[in-house]
Amino acid sequence: MRIYIDSANIEDITRIIAKFPVDGVTTNPSLLAREKNNPLEQLKKIKGVLEEQMELHAQVLSQNAEDMISEAEYMHAQLGKETFIKIPVTHEGIKAMKYLNKSGVNITATAIYTPMQAVMAAKAGAKWTAPYVNRLDMIGANGVQVAIDIHNILTKMNVKTELLAASFKNVEQILKLAEVGVGSVTVAPELLEQLLYHPLTDKAVADFTNDFESITAKGTTMRHL
Ligand code: G3P
Repeated sequence: MRIYIDSANIEDITRIIAKFPVDGVTTNPSLLAREKNNPLEQLKKIKGVLEEQMELHAQVLSQNAEDMISEAEYMHAQLGKETFIKIPVTHEGIKAMKYLNKSGVNITATAIYTPMQAVMAAKAGAKWTAPYVNRLDMIGANGVQVAIDIHNILTKMNVKTELLAASFKNVEQILKLAEVGVGSVTVAPELLEQLLYHPLTDKAVADFTNDFESITAKGTTMRHL
C-alpha cells in the first residue's frame, strides 16, 4: 500500500518523512490556506523537503477547462513535471484531464464521491482517483465501500488509473482498504501517527526496559556492555 501525507505543513511533513515509509505528499487549497503563506511558495517548500521518488500532488483553482490547462502548465513550470496536478471531477475538470493527459501531465482526479466519477476520470487519463472516504461517511454513505468499488472497477477496466483514497478520520477505515489490497491512501499527519498506536506495545517496551535495567543500571543498552 502506498501512503501519502495529506498536509501542507512543513514541520508535520518533515517529521513524518524522517520516520515513516511514505510515498509523497498530497495537498489541497484548504490545507494550503491553513499555512498562511503564499500557496505556491509553500508548495515549493514542500517539494524541497521531499525525498527522491516522492510525489507532490497540488490542485488547480481554475473552474473552466482552458484555465485549468494553463494553470496546470504553469504549476508544472514552477514545481516540476513530476508534480501530480489535482483536478476536480467536474465537466470542465474532465475536459481538462482529456487534454492534459495527451500532453503527458500527471493527473490526480479529486473530489470524487461516486464510482462513476472515477470511471470518467480514468477514461480521461487520470493516474490517480481520489474518493473522499470520511466525507462520504459523514453524509450517510459508506466511504470505504465506495473506495473498494472504485478499486475493483479500475482493476477490471485494465487502465493505468489507480485508487488514491483520501479523507480518513480513523485507522479502521484505512485498514479495511488495506485488507482488500487497495493501492494508496493519503492520511493527515495526526492520523498517520496513530497507525502504530497500541498501549500494550508501549507497555511491552517499558517492561523489557525495566527488566533489563534491574540487572544493569538505568539507561543501559547493549552498547554499554
Ligand atoms: O484532499 C482531500 C482530502 O484532503 C479531504 O480530507 O479530511 O478534509 O475530509 P478531509
